[in-house]
Amino acid sequence: MIIRKSAAELERMAEAGEIVAQTLELVRESIRPGVTTGELDRIAEEFIRSRGGSPTFKGYRGYPAAVCASPNEMIVHGIPGPYALDEGDVLSVDVGVTLAGFVADSASTLAVGEIDEATERLLQTCEAALAAGIEQARVGNRVGDISAAVQRTTEEAGFSIVRSLVGHGVGRSMHEDPQVPNFGRPGTGAPLSTGMTIAIEPMITAGSADIVVADDMWSISTADGSLAAHFEHTVAITESGPWILTAVRARLLQ
Ligand code: MF3
Ligand code: CO
Repeated sequence: MIIRKSAAELERMAEAGEIVAQTLELVRESIRPGVTTGELDRIAEEFIRSRGGSPTFKGYRGYPAAVCASPNEMIVHGIPGPYALDEGDVLSVDVGVTLAGFVADSASTLAVGEIDEATERLLQTCEAALAAGIEQARVGNRVGDISAAVQRTTEEAGFSIVRSLVGHGVGRSMHEDPQVPNFGRPGTGAPLSTGMTIAIEPMITAGSADIVVADDMWSISTADGSLAAHFEHTVAITESGPWILTAVRARLLQ
């Protein structure tokens, strides 16, 4: 069942989304060679709580941390810990915040210092695939229009879509209907209508799209060890087009 949100509820989700965006910015600023993913998690959790939010992921099905931190060939759900970042690494950081009963969810793959050109292209493609998906998040379109745009952007650049993990509706719960696959055919799937809120989240790889789950039962990596990227935004479908709820909001100077 798809749960559509009122204008007031969207406003509350945008408040949660702003904390998510600011947390990702803080993590981006804190990233440097030598810092551990555990330290980044503590920085993120402290900030989220200082803003009155709670980290949605912590305790979700027993997940032990505030954020997910997935280096290099790890795609998603990496548990922050003693891993110290290296110059040239990439780190996929996924943040969820609950505020006043609503959840917002966003992720970015961040560079540690200088990364090589091929890696830069992987990150740019994943971000462009997310943007192409968001562009389709319009009244009158269907979920498959989003999926197809993400897939086309990724595959035209020569990269692979991870098919066994999908985006999702989001609201009072982190995961609501509908599922939002990162591959599909235009004109198929659930129709998009005003008040729907979905997390669009392409996960792409430089090699094969096959995945493996680690012994910790959380971290998911590419089976062939190739690099992965993950970008995600929580987006509302509105009469006036897609509204990215997890973007840093412009504020008018008083
Ligand atoms: N963005 C991820 C998702 O939508 C976050 C889940 S991580 C978990 O599924 F640890 F909370 F599971
Ligand atoms: Co998500």
